[in-house]
Amino acid sequence: MLSNGKSLLLQVRAGGRYIPAFNIYNLETMQAALAASANAGQPVILAFGAGYRKHASFQMIYAMAKTLADSHAQEVVLHLDHCRDLSVIQEALDTGFQSVMFDGSQLPFPDNIEATQKAKTLAKAYGACVEGELGGLNSEDGDGGAEVPRYTDATAVKQFAGQTGVDSLAVSIGNVHGVYHGKPHLNFDRLADIAAQTSIPLVLHGSSGIGKPLLKQAAALGIAKINVNTEVARAGAAAAAAALQTPDGKRLDRVMLTVRDGMREVMERYFL
Ligand code: 13P
Repeated sequence: MLSNGKSLLLQVRAGGRYIPAFNIYNLETMQAALAASANAGQPVILAFGAGYRKHASFQMIYAMAKTLADSHAQEVVLHLDHCRDLSVIQEALDTGFQSVMFDGSQLPFPDNIEATQKAKTLAKAYGACVEGELGGLNSEDGDGGAEVPRYTDATAVKQFAGQTGVDSLAVSIGNVHGVYHGKPHLNFDRLADIAAQTSIPLVLHGSSGIGKPLLKQAAALGIAKINVNTEVARAGAAAAAAALQTPDGKRLDRVMLTVRDGMREVMERYFL
């Protein structure tokens, strides 16, 4: 069944664990995520970015996610990833999304609070959850190096969480979207300071390529949701490239099965 993920993420944070959120935009990405969740025996979050509407509408994604989740043994959360437009959030909520991210990270602090409060009010009418963001990463499909990230200011966290009422909070502690050039460095002192300010689940975007030891350390300090896209997308593309070189390469239906399996394999590695 689909859920809003609220009690799941609270439980996960309290237990010092995390749940992965994979970016999905079609049937195969969703099937890969659910197969990985089944094999891991753990819940999963399906994250559909507002920008993915060129692949499929909210309605199509919701219908597929609901159908798949209804026969899945594990809890599934369908989440709207990175959205800066309240009317798009409204649309997702109207469609049935029970978890949304309002990304006000590019706004001045008071404006971020105000807009996130509005998102929370919209979501409340549906019993849906809102993820906010404080600090800033590079853009969602960035290559992990083009823009300078702004670390989350730990002293602002209590006020932000308190005034907005967000259910989870994305933080910037050295994580970047896309490929890490060199070894990723997470600032755990900063994360501990942030975690001391709020008991809501914390979210680590840009988790591709961070590696389990660091992710485990992050979970022990309050990260309850890790967002993973780049590595899965690359694995899917690599599986397609390899499949194209085989006799099955002339058949898209067969290539797609290989792609789905390639993505599933990488997704499985992200469960704790
Ligand atoms: P990566 O693409 O770096 O894994 O980040 C995904 C993400 O944070 C989506 O919100």
